[in-house]
Amino acid sequence: MQFNTLLMAQEGHTSVITINRPSKLNALNRETIQELHEAFKQLNADARVKTIILTGSGDKAFVAGADISEFANFSTEQGSELAAKGQAQLFDYVENLATPVIAAINGFALGGGLELAMACHFRVASQNARMGLPEVSLGVIPGYGGTQRLPQLIGKGRAMELIMTAGMIEADRALDYGLVNHVVPQADLLARCKKIAAKIANNSTVAIAQAIKAVNAGFKSTSNGYEAEIEAFGACFGTADFKEGTTAFLEKRKADFPGN
Ligand code: COA
Repeated sequence: MQFNTLLMAQEGHTSVITINRPSKLNALNRETIQELHEAFKQLNADARVKTIILTGSGDKAFVAGADISEFANFSTEQGSELAAKGQAQLFDYVENLATPVIAAINGFALGGGLELAMACHFRVASQNARMGLPEVSLGVIPGYGGTQRLPQLIGKGRAMELIMTAGMIEADRALDYGLVNHVVPQADLLARCKKIAAKIANNSTVAIAQAIKAVNAGFKSTSNGYEAEIEAFGACFGTADFKEGTTAFLEKRKADFPGN
């Protein structure tokens, strides 16, 4: 498997996917999302692969978000389409994959990066990891499932505060919140994830796939929060605040929101 934006490695029954755009802090552009879909699909079809570990290259970032430069000029319709397509192609896809996926959070996991880590079945973080959903600082909201999965994992009040403040939490706080299962020194992160993967590999692949299905079923509700998120995300793209927020990021200055 050859990818432009990913590095692939296999060790025994464990595959490691490394998102490899370190100069952009591994931000998720269209190509990366497509390649991740393809990589997960191929590994899931390979009977030798019993666990997948997802991480970011370099020692600074897991993923610093969706690639802001790609969507800064999108319209409302394009915004909705971005969220809907991304959720289907990657975030829901990973969450419902039959093969267990562990996020190894090796640094910043922000916006789409934290959303991707939350779509994985569980998370392990290095001590330097920092996590948050800073979208409202750009005049938009999380659009890859973050408004749904963050409250599921840490509770509604904590999620509301983190989303509204656009703040970041450190690894120890994330552990306390239950957002990550373990915090380890950065040098030990992959080894720790591989150790957990080896334990998983001792168990029935078929039963694990059924367990994933059953656990996920409990989080589906009749009113669809993910669809509501897509609609609200798209609506942000029609606002002057979104134009100002994304332009300010790309021009490396602080946003001055016209709606405030
Ligand atoms: N989209 C596009 N490019 C991004 C990015 C993103 N989400 N996050 C980082 N980058 C790029 C930067 O633009 C910069 O590129 P350049 O060198 O070509 O200018 C490069 O990655 C390095 O980032 P930089 O901001 O210089 O690093 P830093 O150490 O000063 O700050 C962060 C690190 C994570 C705090 C900062 O990059 C940041 O706030 N990123 C955006 C986070 C965000 O809002 N994510 C949600 C998106 S929906």
